[in-house]
Amino acid sequence: MKNDVPTDLLATAGPAPSALVPITVAQGDGIGPEIMAATLKVLAAAGARIAPETIDIGEKLYHAGHGSGIAPEAWDSLRRTRVFLKGPITTPQGGGYKSLNVTIRKTLGLYANVRPCVSYAPFVPTRHPKMNVVIVRENEEDLYAGIEHRQTDEVVQCLKLITRPGCEKIVRYAFEYARANGRRKLTCMTKDNIMKMTDGLFHRVFDEISADYPEITTEHMIIDIGAARLATRPEQFDVIVTPNLYGDILSDIAAELTGSVGLAGSANIGEHVAMFEAIHGSAPDIAGRGMANPSGLLLAAVMMLVHIRQADIAARIHNAWLCTLEDGVFTADLAGAGRVGRPFGSMDFADAIIERLGRMPAQLRAVQYQNPAPSREAGTPASPARRPPARKALVGVDVFVHAAATGADDLARRLQACHAEGLRLQMITNRGVKVWPGGFPETFCTDHWRCRFVGGEGADTVALRDIIGLLEALIDAGIDVIKTENLCTFDGERGFALGQGQ
Ligand code: NAI
Repeated sequence: MKNDVPTDLLATAGPAPSALVPITVAQGDGIGPEIMAATLKVLAAAGARIAPETIDIGEKLYHAGHGSGIAPEAWDSLRRTRVFLKGPITTPQGGGYKSLNVTIRKTLGLYANVRPCVSYAPFVPTRHPKMNVVIVRENEEDLYAGIEHRQTDEVVQCLKLITRPGCEKIVRYAFEYARANGRRKLTCMTKDNIMKMTDGLFHRVFDEISADYPEITTEHMIIDIGAARLATRPEQFDVIVTPNLYGDILSDIAAELTGSVGLAGSANIGEHVAMFEAIHGSAPDIAGRGMANPSGLLLAAVMMLVHIRQADIAARIHNAWLCTLEDGVFTADLAGAGRVGRPFGSMDFADAIIERLGRMPAQLRAVQYQNPAPSREAGTPASPARRPPARKALVGVDVFVHAAATGADDLARRLQACHAEGLRLQMITNRGVKVWPGGFPETFCTDHWRCRFVGGEGADTVALRDIIGLLEALIDAGIDVIKTENLCTFDGERGFALGQGQ
């Protein structure tokens, strides 16, 4: 039987069964306090062995001058408990405010975002009644590193960073998740037909690590067709692992397909701390009216209970919650679709779950959870081992230049006129398209040129000092150098993309 939440989370030392586990709780903004109260009421009634300590986050903190929505002392609680149950927060509009979620993920190294997306048909209408997919999204890297620059009048850039340890951590986590939860298939989605180095690394690591999990069927899909298939035939997928940006988009598609985003919880897993929250926001439009659906936060809390090795309580709550769905108990967001009677408020809904504790669903698939292994050795992915450094050789440099958007030939002449010891101009590209030598007049150019210099005739490598000499010559010639990228080989393998047209 499939479980819907991870059983292999994090490497906290397992507490004694009867000990209360300290957790950090933040109510958040908008509907946050209402759904948190409902959730904690169910947890208490089910006998969760937790000792919550509360921190303030969100709007109040932003307005008190904490630019990322959290006060410095709150980190102490998170470091101490290492488990965070978080309500949604309202991100203030306007500049100067940082996303609290991004801050927490990055600061605490929460590298895996796990989002189970399950259909509850016929109790929640959906076109995909058999859907039961878990998206495992890389959470720290990719275009989300936030390294952006304006380089010229016309061009801005965002760096896409993919690291081998980052790929290893997330891919191994996804395999461990699949294994621990009785899942049979893991699909990797990237765009490595285009981004051969960054997405190519993710795919390669996926292939390497799959060898350790022979019982799990693996496949790779290009993200565009993968996303289309997920949207039309989600029942074909089991667990999906993917880099940050694709995962961000896919996980919202997947949640929407189940029929209600209000029912999904998610876990953000790191080596030291884990954070659990609903996927929806603070719903200011219904805040304070006691009508919000606490299910997303409650299912996040179920994931948390498994994580802190209270699988028995997690299953008890989850199965009782499934019973409420089967019994036609619903909150206002799920009204309509043939339902009769009045919707339940948040607290009444919690009470309805509490009444059903100990019952098993009749139609929906009951869940079973197992406590994760108490130690890292027993399965939770640890930090990947660092490899010895490769033999690195400098073979050239890409010099990025801000120059008028016309005249690649003219730019080439100006560059060639600069005396550069040990280096020769090999090509110029504009937005990745080769425009010199042999450019096409039809190619649209902007004011941002990549000028590739490689070693002179017969030279396999170039000296760093020669690059500095080249830059001095370019600057003396009045050329506006924006940045450089060294071209290197690693153990003889090319560490840079060839320009288009080569
Ligand atoms: P939202 O998810 O808060 O609301 C979208 C719609 O869904 C609204 O009509 C709302 O009433 C409804 N809804 C959401 N959760 C519900 C629940 N539990 N029960 C019943 N109905 C529910 O998204 P929106 O309006 O775009 O964002 C509101 C605020 O939340 C923004 O400030 C946004 O930045 C923040 N936000 C925070 C997140 C977090 O803390 N993890 C995640 C997403 C948004």
